[in-house]
Amino acid sequence: MWSEEKMEQYLKENLDSKRYAHSISVRDTAVEMAEQFNEDINKSRMAGLLHDCAKNLRGYELINTAKKYGYNVSEIYQRSPQLLHGLVGAIIAKEIMGVKDKEVFNAIAYHTTGRRNMTMLEKMIYLADYIEPLRKYPGVSEIRELTYNDINKAVLRSFDNTIKYVIDRGQMIHPNTIEGRNYLIKILGD
Ligand SMILES: [Fe+2]
Ligand SMILES: [Fe+2]
Repeated sequence: MWSEEKMEQYLKENLDSKRYAHSISVRDTAVEMAEQFNEDINKSRMAGLLHDCAKNLRGYELINTAKKYGYNVSEIYQRSPQLLHGLVGAIIAKEIMGVKDKEVFNAIAYHTTGRRNMTMLEKMIYLADYIEPLRKYPGVSEIRELTYNDINKAVLRSFDNTIKYVIDRGQMIHPNTIEGRNYLIKILGD
């Protein structure tokens, strides 16, 4: 597996400076969360650092990489290839950087859409991406607070915001986000 230094170098070369700063910030936020929730700090740190490593690839590069590694690229990805940057980031982490951990793979792969029944690591990376200190959008401080009070509510609120944002732009909503949201409503209601 690559050293963290080499991973950072890769990010520096492949992301713009703003996205690089965001990646470092998500890494640090993910570490804080792992400490807070008593989860694996190394997995959280690595997934946080690498989650956007495919962010600057072009749409056709994302599609081609996913196909090359045997993933089925459904219609929604053809229309919105950026939705693939999670999965392709996980593929790059595994195949190029040698990060073989399955949980880290899934946390990177699902950070864009979420899904139903997410693991704690998946939720932490999803939220760290959302609430890292460089993020400024209406409602961010509320989600920051919710994260440490009730992480499921925080993820639900993020799904809600994402779905509204996507609707306002007239784009397709990924089924994983809808399933993730329905699942959380169900478990929070019990
Ligand atoms: Fe991302
Ligand atoms: Fe991100």
